[in-house]
Amino acid sequence: MARSTKRSFEDLRSQAELGNEGGRTLHWEGDPFGALHLLDQTLLPIEERDIVCATVEDVWEAIKMLRVRGAPAIGVTAAYGVVVGMQPTMKSSPEKWRERLNEVCEYLASSRPTAVNLFWALDRMKRIGSGCTVDNVMPRLLEEARKIEHEDRDMCAAIGRHGAALLAEGKSYLTHCNAGSLATAGDGTALSVFYAAAAQGKNIHVYADETRPLLQGARLTSWELKQRNIPVTLLCDSMAGWMMKQGRIQGVITGADRIAANGDAANKIGTYSVAVLARAHDIPMYIAAPSSTFDFSLASGASIPIEERDPQEITNGFGKQTAPNGIAVANPAFDVTPAELITALITEQGVISPVTTENIARVLRDDAKGAP
Ligand code: MRU
Repeated sequence: MARSTKRSFEDLRSQAELGNEGGRTLHWEGDPFGALHLLDQTLLPIEERDIVCATVEDVWEAIKMLRVRGAPAIGVTAAYGVVVGMQPTMKSSPEKWRERLNEVCEYLASSRPTAVNLFWALDRMKRIGSGCTVDNVMPRLLEEARKIEHEDRDMCAAIGRHGAALLAEGKSYLTHCNAGSLATAGDGTALSVFYAAAAQGKNIHVYADETRPLLQGARLTSWELKQRNIPVTLLCDSMAGWMMKQGRIQGVITGADRIAANGDAANKIGTYSVAVLARAHDIPMYIAAPSSTFDFSLASGASIPIEERDPQEITNGFGKQTAPNGIAVANPAFDVTPAELITALITEQGVISPVTTENIARVLRDDAKGAP
Protein backbone atom coordinates (compact mmCIF):
# COMPACT_ATOMS: atom_id res chain seq x y z
CA MET A 1 0.00 0.00 0.00
CA ALA A 2 1.27 3.46 -0.93
CA ARG A 3 2.47 5.83 1.84
CA SER A 4 0.14 8.76 2.53
CA THR A 5 0.85 12.38 3.46
CA LYS A 6 -1.51 15.19 4.44
CA ARG A 7 -2.00 17.67 1.64
CA SER A 8 -0.17 20.95 2.06
CA PHE A 9 -2.39 23.31 0.10
CA GLU A 10 -5.96 24.17 0.92
CA ASP A 11 -7.48 25.27 -2.36
CA LEU A 12 -7.58 23.90 -5.84
CA ARG A 13 -5.71 26.50 -7.88
CA SER A 14 -6.32 26.86 -11.59
CA GLN A 15 -3.86 25.41 -14.04
CA ALA A 16 -3.05 28.93 -15.23
CA GLU A 17 -1.85 29.76 -11.72
CA LEU A 18 0.09 26.53 -11.44
CA GLY A 19 1.83 27.02 -14.79
CA ASN A 20 3.67 23.93 -15.92
CA GLU A 21 4.80 22.84 -12.48
CA GLY A 22 1.68 20.64 -12.23
CA GLY A 23 0.67 19.17 -9.00
CA ARG A 24 -2.77 18.90 -7.55
CA THR A 25 -3.99 15.61 -8.99
CA LEU A 26 -0.62 13.98 -9.57
CA HIS A 27 3.02 14.97 -9.68
CA TRP A 28 6.46 13.45 -9.84
CA GLU A 29 9.00 14.46 -7.24
CA GLY A 30 12.73 14.12 -7.77
CA ASP A 31 15.00 12.59 -10.36
CA PRO A 32 14.24 9.32 -12.21
CA PHE A 33 14.62 7.53 -8.88
CA GLY A 34 12.06 9.82 -7.23
CA ALA A 35 8.39 8.97 -6.64
CA LEU A 36 4.89 9.56 -7.93
CA HIS A 37 2.52 11.54 -5.68
CA LEU A 38 -1.24 11.25 -6.18
CA LEU A 39 -4.13 13.01 -4.48
CA ASP A 40 -6.17 10.07 -3.11
CA GLN A 41 -9.56 10.78 -4.72
CA THR A 42 -11.34 8.04 -2.78
CA LEU A 43 -11.06 10.30 0.31
CA LEU A 44 -12.61 13.39 -1.31
CA PRO A 45 -14.43 15.57 -0.47
CA ILE A 46 -13.80 14.86 3.22
CA GLU A 47 -10.03 14.72 3.23
CA GLU A 48 -7.22 15.94 0.96
CA ARG A 49 -4.41 13.47 1.29
CA ASP A 50 -1.56 12.53 -1.03
CA ILE A 51 -0.29 9.03 -1.47
CA VAL A 52 3.27 8.29 -2.54
CA CYS A 53 3.57 5.41 -4.99
CA ALA A 54 7.00 3.86 -4.47
CA THR A 55 6.37 0.58 -6.32
CA VAL A 56 4.60 -0.36 -9.53
CA GLU A 57 2.16 -2.37 -7.41
CA ASP A 58 1.22 0.87 -5.60
CA VAL A 59 0.55 2.54 -8.95
CA TRP A 60 -1.55 -0.40 -10.19
CA GLU A 61 -3.60 -0.41 -6.99
CA ALA A 62 -4.14 3.37 -7.15
CA ILE A 63 -5.54 3.09 -10.69
CA LYS A 64 -7.63 -0.02 -9.96
CA MET A 65 -9.18 1.44 -6.79
CA LEU A 66 -9.85 4.85 -8.43
CA ARG A 67 -7.49 6.74 -6.11
CA VAL A 68 -6.57 8.31 -9.43
CA ARG A 69 -9.20 8.14 -12.15
CA GLY A 70 -10.40 9.78 -15.34
CA ALA A 71 -8.98 8.67 -18.67
CA PRO A 72 -6.19 11.25 -19.17
CA ALA A 73 -5.04 11.09 -15.53
CA ILE A 74 -4.89 7.30 -15.75
CA GLY A 75 -2.66 7.61 -18.84
CA VAL A 76 -0.26 10.07 -17.18
CA THR A 77 -0.16 7.98 -13.99
CA ALA A 78 0.65 4.83 -15.96
CA ALA A 79 3.49 6.65 -17.74
CA TYR A 80 5.06 7.58 -14.40
CA GLY A 81 4.23 4.05 -13.23
CA VAL A 82 6.62 2.71 -15.85
CA VAL A 83 9.41 4.87 -14.38
CA VAL A 84 8.59 3.56 -10.90
CA GLY A 85 8.46 -0.01 -12.19
CA MET A 86 11.86 0.22 -13.85
CA GLN A 87 13.68 1.67 -10.83
CA PRO A 88 14.66 -1.65 -9.20
CA THR A 89 16.11 -3.17 -12.37
CA MET A 90 18.84 -0.71 -13.25
CA LYS A 91 21.68 -2.93 -12.14
CA SER A 92 20.55 -5.85 -14.31
CA SER A 93 21.61 -6.73 -17.86
CA PRO A 94 20.06 -4.95 -20.88
CA GLU A 95 18.10 -8.15 -21.69
CA LYS A 96 16.68 -8.25 -18.18
CA TRP A 97 15.52 -4.62 -18.11
CA ARG A 98 14.00 -4.88 -21.57
CA GLU A 99 12.06 -7.92 -20.35
CA ARG A 100 11.08 -5.93 -17.25
CA LEU A 101 9.87 -3.00 -19.40
CA ASN A 102 7.43 -5.33 -21.18
CA GLU A 103 6.32 -6.88 -17.91
CA VAL A 104 5.74 -3.51 -16.24
CA CYS A 105 3.72 -2.22 -19.21
CA GLU A 106 1.62 -5.39 -19.39
CA TYR A 107 1.01 -5.29 -15.66
CA LEU A 108 -0.13 -1.66 -15.65
CA ALA A 109 -2.31 -2.34 -18.71
CA SER A 110 -4.25 -4.90 -16.66
CA SER A 111 -5.43 -2.29 -14.12
CA ARG A 112 -8.49 -0.96 -16.01
CA PRO A 113 -9.75 -1.89 -19.50
CA THR A 114 -11.87 0.95 -20.89
CA ALA A 115 -9.89 4.22 -20.93
CA VAL A 116 -7.67 3.98 -24.01
CA ASN A 117 -5.35 6.71 -22.69
CA LEU A 118 -3.82 4.04 -20.45
CA PHE A 119 -2.74 1.88 -23.40
CA TRP A 120 -1.78 4.92 -25.47
CA ALA A 121 0.59 6.18 -22.75
CA LEU A 122 2.07 2.72 -22.13
CA ASP A 123 2.74 2.27 -25.86
CA ARG A 124 4.63 5.57 -25.89
CA MET A 125 6.70 4.59 -22.85
CA LYS A 126 7.49 1.17 -24.34
CA ARG A 127 8.54 2.73 -27.64
CA ILE A 128 10.90 5.17 -25.91
CA GLY A 129 12.30 2.57 -23.52
CA SER A 130 12.98 0.03 -26.25
CA GLY A 131 15.28 2.46 -28.08
CA CYS A 132 17.38 3.24 -24.98
CA THR A 133 20.59 1.94 -23.45
CA VAL A 134 21.08 1.05 -19.82
CA ASP A 135 22.78 4.43 -19.29
CA ASN A 136 20.00 6.63 -20.60
CA VAL A 137 16.82 4.60 -20.09
CA MET A 138 15.75 6.11 -16.75
CA PRO A 139 16.14 9.80 -17.67
CA ARG A 140 14.52 9.14 -21.07
CA LEU A 141 11.54 7.38 -19.48
CA LEU A 142 11.04 10.20 -16.99
CA GLU A 143 11.36 12.77 -19.76
CA GLU A 144 8.67 11.00 -21.81
CA ALA A 145 6.32 10.71 -18.82
CA ARG A 146 6.75 14.44 -18.14
CA LYS A 147 6.08 15.13 -21.82
CA ILE A 148 2.84 13.13 -21.69
CA GLU A 149 1.81 15.10 -18.59
CA HIS A 150 2.61 18.49 -20.16
CA GLU A 151 0.91 17.59 -23.43
CA ASP A 152 -2.21 16.60 -21.53
CA ARG A 153 -2.20 19.96 -19.74
CA ASP A 154 -1.94 21.81 -23.05
CA MET A 155 -4.69 19.67 -24.63
CA CYS A 156 -7.03 20.51 -21.75
CA ALA A 157 -6.41 24.23 -22.24
CA ALA A 158 -7.10 23.98 -26.00
CA ILE A 159 -10.29 21.97 -25.40
CA GLY A 160 -11.46 24.73 -23.06
CA ARG A 161 -10.76 27.40 -25.66
CA HIS A 162 -12.62 25.54 -28.44
CA GLY A 163 -15.54 24.53 -26.24
CA ALA A 164 -16.16 27.87 -24.53
CA ALA A 165 -17.45 29.31 -27.82
CA LEU A 166 -20.34 26.82 -27.69
CA LEU A 167 -21.62 28.06 -24.33
CA ALA A 168 -24.05 30.94 -24.06
CA GLU A 169 -24.35 33.65 -21.43
CA GLY A 170 -26.75 32.89 -18.59
CA LYS A 171 -27.39 29.25 -19.52
CA SER A 172 -27.20 26.02 -17.48
CA TYR A 173 -25.30 22.89 -18.50
CA LEU A 174 -25.39 19.34 -17.18
CA THR A 175 -22.27 17.23 -16.70
CA HIS A 176 -21.91 13.59 -15.66
CA CYS A 177 -19.07 11.97 -13.66
CA ASN A 178 -15.89 14.04 -13.29
CA ALA A 179 -14.03 15.25 -16.34
CA GLY A 180 -12.17 18.04 -14.58
CA SER A 181 -8.74 18.77 -13.20
CA LEU A 182 -9.07 15.70 -10.99
CA ALA A 183 -9.34 13.56 -14.13
CA THR A 184 -6.42 15.05 -16.06
CA ALA A 185 -3.06 16.73 -15.63
CA GLY A 186 -4.64 20.08 -16.55
CA ASP A 187 -7.99 21.80 -16.18
CA GLY A 188 -9.97 18.83 -17.43
CA THR A 189 -11.95 18.22 -20.60
CA ALA A 190 -15.67 18.93 -20.01
CA LEU A 191 -14.94 21.10 -16.98
CA SER A 192 -12.17 22.94 -18.83
CA VAL A 193 -14.91 24.24 -21.13
CA PHE A 194 -16.74 25.69 -18.11
CA TYR A 195 -13.56 27.22 -16.70
CA ALA A 196 -12.69 28.82 -20.03
CA ALA A 197 -16.23 30.20 -20.50
CA ALA A 198 -16.16 31.66 -16.98
CA ALA A 199 -12.72 33.16 -17.62
CA GLN A 200 -14.22 34.91 -20.67
CA GLY A 201 -16.78 36.49 -18.37
CA LYS A 202 -19.75 34.28 -19.29
CA ASN A 203 -22.15 33.60 -16.44
CA ILE A 204 -22.90 29.93 -16.66
CA HIS A 205 -24.37 27.48 -14.21
CA VAL A 206 -23.55 23.77 -13.97
CA TYR A 207 -25.73 20.88 -12.88
CA ALA A 208 -23.61 17.93 -11.71
CA ASP A 209 -25.14 14.46 -11.83
CA GLU A 210 -24.12 12.65 -8.65
CA THR A 211 -23.05 9.64 -10.82
CA ARG A 212 -23.97 6.39 -9.15
CA PRO A 213 -22.50 4.15 -7.90
CA LEU A 214 -19.16 5.80 -7.00
CA LEU A 215 -20.48 9.38 -6.87
CA GLN A 216 -17.73 11.06 -8.90
CA GLY A 217 -20.20 13.90 -9.60
CA ALA A 218 -21.14 14.45 -5.96
CA ARG A 219 -17.75 13.83 -4.40
CA LEU A 220 -15.45 15.26 -7.09
CA THR A 221 -17.18 17.49 -9.67
CA SER A 222 -19.27 19.51 -7.23
CA TRP A 223 -16.21 19.86 -4.94
CA GLU A 224 -13.94 20.90 -7.79
CA LEU A 225 -16.39 23.43 -9.29
CA LYS A 226 -17.10 24.91 -5.88
CA GLN A 227 -13.36 25.40 -5.30
CA ARG A 228 -13.14 27.20 -8.62
CA ASN A 229 -16.20 29.41 -7.92
CA ILE A 230 -18.34 28.01 -10.74
CA PRO A 231 -22.02 27.99 -9.66
CA VAL A 232 -22.97 24.33 -9.34
CA THR A 233 -26.07 22.42 -8.29
CA LEU A 234 -25.92 18.71 -7.47
CA LEU A 235 -28.58 16.37 -8.90
CA CYS A 236 -29.36 12.69 -8.42
CA ASP A 237 -28.89 10.95 -11.79
CA SER A 238 -32.62 10.24 -12.05
CA MET A 239 -33.49 13.96 -11.96
CA ALA A 240 -31.84 14.98 -15.25
CA GLY A 241 -34.85 14.21 -17.48
CA TRP A 242 -37.27 16.20 -15.34
CA MET A 243 -34.88 19.17 -15.19
CA MET A 244 -34.62 19.11 -19.00
CA LYS A 245 -38.38 18.87 -19.37
CA GLN A 246 -38.74 22.00 -17.25
CA GLY A 247 -36.31 23.89 -19.48
CA ARG A 248 -33.67 24.20 -16.76
CA ILE A 249 -30.82 22.62 -18.76
CA GLN A 250 -29.68 24.05 -22.11
CA GLY A 251 -26.85 21.65 -22.91
CA VAL A 252 -24.86 18.63 -21.74
CA ILE A 253 -21.05 18.31 -21.69
CA THR A 254 -19.24 15.16 -20.59
CA GLY A 255 -15.80 13.64 -21.08
CA ALA A 256 -15.00 10.26 -22.64
CA ASP A 257 -12.85 7.23 -21.92
CA ARG A 258 -12.55 5.91 -25.47
CA ILE A 259 -13.94 7.19 -28.76
CA ALA A 260 -14.08 4.90 -31.79
CA ALA A 261 -13.20 6.05 -35.34
CA ASN A 262 -16.89 6.76 -36.08
CA GLY A 263 -17.38 8.89 -32.94
CA ASP A 264 -19.19 6.36 -30.72
CA ALA A 265 -17.99 7.38 -27.25
CA ALA A 266 -17.57 5.34 -24.08
CA ASN A 267 -17.93 7.30 -20.86
CA LYS A 268 -19.12 6.76 -17.30
CA ILE A 269 -22.25 4.62 -16.98
CA GLY A 270 -25.30 6.87 -17.30
CA THR A 271 -23.87 9.04 -20.08
CA TYR A 272 -25.89 7.15 -22.70
CA SER A 273 -29.11 7.77 -20.73
CA VAL A 274 -28.28 11.48 -20.52
CA ALA A 275 -27.63 11.58 -24.29
CA VAL A 276 -31.00 9.93 -25.02
CA LEU A 277 -32.71 12.43 -22.72
CA ALA A 278 -30.88 15.33 -24.37
CA ARG A 279 -32.06 14.18 -27.82
CA ALA A 280 -35.65 13.76 -26.55
CA HIS A 281 -35.60 17.36 -25.27
CA ASP A 282 -33.75 18.79 -28.27
CA ILE A 283 -30.75 19.81 -26.15
CA PRO A 284 -27.16 19.67 -27.53
CA MET A 285 -24.97 16.82 -26.25
CA TYR A 286 -21.24 17.65 -26.34
CA ILE A 287 -18.39 15.28 -25.57
CA ALA A 288 -15.01 16.86 -24.80
CA ALA A 289 -11.88 14.71 -25.18
CA PRO A 290 -8.24 14.96 -26.28
CA SER A 291 -6.91 13.05 -29.30
CA SER A 292 -5.32 10.56 -26.86
CA THR A 293 -8.86 9.31 -26.08
CA PHE A 294 -9.58 8.30 -29.69
CA ASP A 295 -9.05 4.66 -30.65
CA PHE A 296 -8.74 4.56 -34.42
CA SER A 297 -8.26 0.79 -34.37
CA LEU A 298 -11.98 0.44 -33.61
CA ALA A 299 -14.43 1.23 -36.42
CA SER A 300 -17.33 1.63 -33.98
CA GLY A 301 -18.08 1.58 -30.27
CA ALA A 302 -19.40 -1.98 -30.43
CA SER A 303 -15.99 -3.42 -29.54
CA ILE A 304 -15.00 -1.00 -26.77
CA PRO A 305 -14.27 -3.15 -23.69
CA ILE A 306 -16.55 -2.18 -20.82
CA GLU A 307 -15.19 -2.61 -17.31
CA GLU A 308 -17.42 -4.60 -14.95
CA ARG A 309 -16.71 -3.67 -11.34
CA ASP A 310 -17.26 -5.27 -7.94
CA PRO A 311 -20.99 -5.69 -7.07
CA GLN A 312 -20.16 -4.44 -3.57
CA GLU A 313 -19.85 -0.93 -5.00
CA ILE A 314 -23.64 -1.11 -5.46
CA THR A 315 -24.76 -3.28 -2.55
CA ASN A 316 -22.38 -1.84 0.06
CA GLY A 317 -21.38 1.55 -1.33
CA PHE A 318 -19.19 3.54 1.05
CA GLY A 319 -19.51 0.90 3.74
CA LYS A 320 -23.29 0.75 4.17
CA GLN A 321 -25.31 -2.26 3.06
CA THR A 322 -28.22 -1.06 0.91
CA ALA A 323 -29.39 -4.31 -0.76
CA PRO A 324 -30.35 -7.79 0.43
CA ASN A 325 -27.60 -10.37 0.97
CA GLY A 326 -26.86 -12.43 -2.13
CA ILE A 327 -28.79 -10.22 -4.57
CA ALA A 328 -27.73 -10.45 -8.24
CA VAL A 329 -26.04 -7.22 -9.37
CA ALA A 330 -24.85 -5.78 -12.68
CA ASN A 331 -22.13 -3.14 -12.42
CA PRO A 332 -20.86 -1.99 -15.83
CA ALA A 333 -18.71 1.08 -15.15
CA PHE A 334 -19.14 2.61 -18.62
CA ASP A 335 -21.59 2.80 -21.51
CA VAL A 336 -21.28 3.81 -25.15
CA THR A 337 -23.13 6.79 -26.60
CA PRO A 338 -23.66 6.33 -30.35
CA ALA A 339 -22.23 9.09 -32.55
CA GLU A 340 -25.69 10.04 -33.85
CA LEU A 341 -26.66 11.25 -30.36
CA ILE A 342 -23.58 13.49 -30.05
CA THR A 343 -24.00 17.05 -31.33
CA ALA A 344 -20.25 17.74 -31.38
CA LEU A 345 -16.93 16.37 -30.17
CA ILE A 346 -14.73 19.05 -28.61
CA THR A 347 -11.06 18.17 -29.11
CA GLU A 348 -7.83 20.12 -28.69
CA GLN A 349 -7.65 20.35 -32.48
CA GLY A 350 -11.12 21.77 -32.94
CA VAL A 351 -14.84 21.07 -32.71
CA ILE A 352 -16.10 18.14 -34.79
CA SER A 353 -19.71 18.41 -35.94
CA PRO A 354 -21.58 16.58 -37.29
CA VAL A 355 -19.87 13.58 -35.72
CA THR A 356 -18.92 11.33 -38.63
CA THR A 357 -15.93 9.11 -39.43
CA GLU A 358 -14.93 11.54 -42.20
CA ASN A 359 -15.12 14.67 -40.06
CA ILE A 360 -13.15 13.05 -37.24
CA ALA A 361 -10.44 11.88 -39.66
CA ARG A 362 -10.27 15.36 -41.20
CA VAL A 363 -9.84 17.20 -37.87
CA LEU A 364 -7.57 14.63 -36.21
CA ARG A 365 -5.62 13.93 -39.40
CA ASP A 366 -2.31 12.77 -37.89
CA ASP A 367 -3.86 10.65 -35.16
CA ALA A 368 -6.35 9.05 -37.53
CA LYS A 369 -3.65 7.49 -39.75
CA GLY A 370 -4.09 3.73 -39.81
CA ALA A 371 -7.83 3.90 -39.05
CA PRO A 372 -9.80 0.89 -40.34
O1 MRU B 1 -14.39 5.45 -13.45
P1 MRU B 1 -13.80 6.80 -13.68
O2 MRU B 1 -14.04 7.76 -12.55
O3 MRU B 1 -12.34 6.71 -14.08
O4 MRU B 1 -14.58 7.37 -14.95
C1 MRU B 1 -14.19 8.60 -15.47
C2 MRU B 1 -15.04 9.09 -16.59
O5 MRU B 1 -15.93 8.42 -17.04
C3 MRU B 1 -14.68 10.42 -17.16
O6 MRU B 1 -15.82 11.08 -17.64
C4 MRU B 1 -13.72 10.21 -18.35
O7 MRU B 1 -12.62 9.43 -17.97
C5 MRU B 1 -13.23 11.49 -18.91
S1 MRU B 1 -12.10 12.32 -17.82
C6 MRU B 1 -11.53 13.70 -18.59
